[in-house]
Amino acid sequence: METTTKHCIRICLGSSCYSRGNAENLETIKSYLKDNNIESQIDFRGHLCTENCNKGPVIEIDDQTFEEVSNSSLTSILNHFFNEKQ
Ligand code: FES
Repeated sequence: METTTKHCIRICLGSSCYSRGNAENLETIKSYLKDNNIESQIDFRGHLCTENCNKGPVIEIDDQTFEEVSNSSLTSILNHFFNEKQ
């Protein structure tokens, strides 16, 4: 029997977050999900600006919000999160 828990990732695609790092973070997340073969377990979507630009780039994973997400920290966030929760 398969028990797949659906997790969600929300990435801010507003112009501030996008230009300050989420353009690259978007590609990193897509590659990560594909490389780890977990695309079907993750509901991955973009959203518009939530007016937290001064804390951007902003990414949410389930109920946690990550601010000022650099591309170098993103992979460790994803590893930390999904290695524990898969
Ligand atoms: S652009 Fe991301 S919070 Fe404004």
